[in-house]
Amino acid sequence: MTPVTMPVTAIDLSDLEFWAQPWEVREAAFRTLRAERPIAFFEEPEFDVESFIQIPRGPGYYAITRHADIVEISRHPELYCSGKSGTTIVDMPTEMLEFFGSMINMDDPRHARLRRIVSAAFNPRMVRSIEDTIESVADGVIDRVRDRGECDFVTEVAARLPLKVICDMMGVTERDYDTVFSCSNIILSMGDPEYVAEGEDPVLAFMNAGSTLADMMRDLSMFRVDHPTDDLTSALVHANVDGESLDQQELASFFILLLVAGNETTRNAISHGLWALTEHPDQRAAWKADFEGVAPTAVDEIVRWASPVIFMRRTLTAPATLSGHAFAEGDKVILFYNSANRDEDVFENPYRFDVRRSPNPHVGFGAPGPHFCLGAHLARREITVMFRELFRRLPDIQASAEPDRLRSNFINGIKHLPAAFTPGGAAA
Ligand code: HEM
Repeated sequence: MTPVTMPVTAIDLSDLEFWAQPWEVREAAFRTLRAERPIAFFEEPEFDVESFIQIPRGPGYYAITRHADIVEISRHPELYCSGKSGTTIVDMPTEMLEFFGSMINMDDPRHARLRRIVSAAFNPRMVRSIEDTIESVADGVIDRVRDRGECDFVTEVAARLPLKVICDMMGVTERDYDTVFSCSNIILSMGDPEYVAEGEDPVLAFMNAGSTLADMMRDLSMFRVDHPTDDLTSALVHANVDGESLDQQELASFFILLLVAGNETTRNAISHGLWALTEHPDQRAAWKADFEGVAPTAVDEIVRWASPVIFMRRTLTAPATLSGHAFAEGDKVILFYNSANRDEDVFENPYRFDVRRSPNPHVGFGAPGPHFCLGAHLARREITVMFRELFRRLPDIQASAEPDRLRSNFINGIKHLPAAFTPGGAAA
């Protein structure tokens, strides 16, 4: 088959329609950018909707598409910072920072102090200690669909495990799971019509979703003041940063970050995983034949392959030169992790899904630096346990139709993925 190609002049990463194109067309565009214009300037997207908050059109941005450049930028947070108007392409208006201004959009030392409040809960030892819980959640999820022989793999399986795990860690009760699910869909959907109806103001929908989660945090945190447990909300409520406790806005934005980051990304990795294993039966057979032996490389390959988070932004704090390009203070650079994960200078056969790939220096969880994904150990564990239980309990499960993809330049999302298996599966 002739590979799809795309001339550099035809590429506009700011056009949302670009992100609605088939994966192979997107891959072709990034291949061209890496080869011909690895630091490419784009005008910022224009918002043609009437919105209650006007988002002014910014000065444009540089798309960074090579692995080496992204790693170099991530190593120098003092030059390429996260704390100037956020990590999104457009500058976040102050109203939005109220809900979304947490540590992901901050720099050290405050970023490090905030991260320290919760980091112990995500270290490998703590994650190992909740392995049994993750397993029983995965089993419960499978039990609910097992006898039907078919399901929507995203909403009924992949989404359920990370949602319950992070809600439990935060102290959110089952009654609120659906609210968390729908709010995080809206927050990360970038206006996909399934989550924000045509004609509805996407910025307002985004703010309402943030405000709903903030209210949930307010109720929970007030209760935790007098009734502390070992959950993360108690840790946040009782934290002392620079001699002060977190105020209501800081609590809310921290809570939203953890809930949203903790469920959406892992859901997409698991969904992409099933799709990739369906499309590559040889790789599925190799993993099934030696599940525990292959799991560590298979899980990282799923994250590389899926690249659930497409980009993060940094902003120049001073003039700097990178790979011969001179940046000015204030320039925005967008780190396209999806592109770095296909960089032919780093990965042999980057378009091959290989469950035994090693080494695999992918940047699906970000590149090494202060913002490297806090939940990487947890996500790896969740993906491992989910596939272990699926292979054990529904051994012939596979996708039965094409994925229904999210229209987004930020999250490489799958909204629905029909799956089929023998009803009843294998005896547990
Ligand atoms: C496969 C699943 C996941 C992927 C692909 C992923 C991806 C990422 C990426 C790319 C970043 C880097 C942000 C940057 O460069 O600025 C990040 C940061 C972060 N992730 Fe994840 N993530 C995943 C799972 C999780 C989970 C389960 C949690 C649990 C709460 C989580 C919480 C966070 C947090 C809090 C940050 C911000 C860290 C900081 O700014 O210090 N992530 N993630």
